[in-house]
Amino acid sequence: MTQASDVEGHYSSGQLLGRIKAGLDALGLAPPLSADDLAPVDEFHIGGRLATEPFVAAMGLSTGARVVDLGCGLGGPARYVAGQTGARVTGVDLTDEFVQTGRALCDWTGLGDKVTLKTGSILDLPLDDSSMDAAYMIHVGMNIADKAGLAREAARVLKPGGLFAIYDVMQVGPGEMDFPAPWASDASQSALASPEEYRAALEDAGFTIRQQTDRTGFAKDFFAKLAAAQTGQDGPPPLGLHLIMGADTGVKVQHMVQNIAVGRIAPIEMIAHLA
Ligand SMILES: C[S@@+](CC[C@H](N)C(=O)[O-])C[C@H]1O[C@@H](n2cnc3c(N)ncnc32)[C@H](O)[C@@H]1O
Repeated sequence: MTQASDVEGHYSSGQLLGRIKAGLDALGLAPPLSADDLAPVDEFHIGGRLATEPFVAAMGLSTGARVVDLGCGLGGPARYVAGQTGARVTGVDLTDEFVQTGRALCDWTGLGDKVTLKTGSILDLPLDDSSMDAAYMIHVGMNIADKAGLAREAARVLKPGGLFAIYDVMQVGPGEMDFPAPWASDASQSALASPEEYRAALEDAGFTIRQQTDRTGFAKDFFAKLAAAQTGQDGPPPLGLHLIMGADTGVKVQHMVQNIAVGRIAPIEMIAHLA
């Protein structure tokens, strides 16, 4: 069972906004910023913005739709969704430092009126019943053992017929994941589950799964291009996920890449609808 305080401890570092500001300064960037300016640091999942684009397109959101981002992190995907679709997005995340930092980034991008970020657990959402047209969750379920509770809470806040899209790292083969990983310093913070376990939790909560896509090929290609781009570089770029993951970013990413390569874990997308 993962503990919320341990998970928050894994993601919190202190001074994150200051590090992002220093990275922006080094690039000669200052508010007002575009969502694209921040994408190297505020899209904390495999493939970053390149993964978010098709994932969001598949949701088919309309202007004015009310959408909840479950485990929004710094709010990069939420700002992208609001900017691209005109939806109003509420992001909820356990890690208060991410929410506070994300609010500043919303101000810097002028999206504060379309995106609201709240600190809280997605197992107990600060949202009314049947208040949302759609929900999505990107690389969060790996920290939450209670997949049934997660699916029930998403179902509670969605309107009838509401859409729930997931892009998570799932366990697809035998063997134990190596840690540290980007989502957990050790096994006690990790709750990897198989696609079948996700499907069962979703179906028990009243969802019908319409689509499941294995993004392993995309991930391998993404990491190969990343490695090629970094070859010969003198250290990381001013703005990147190392500002969040810290000094052991290299080993965290290496473990994830290796475990994908041997077929133990995979980034999987699912799209489900509530009855
Ligand atoms: C790898 S980050 C992904 C952040 C964001 N979805 C993105 O793609 O940029 C995982 C996030 O899940 C959040 N998280 C983990 N367990 C949570 C819970 N029970 N409730 C809310 N957020 C949670 C963490 O605080 C962290 O921000």
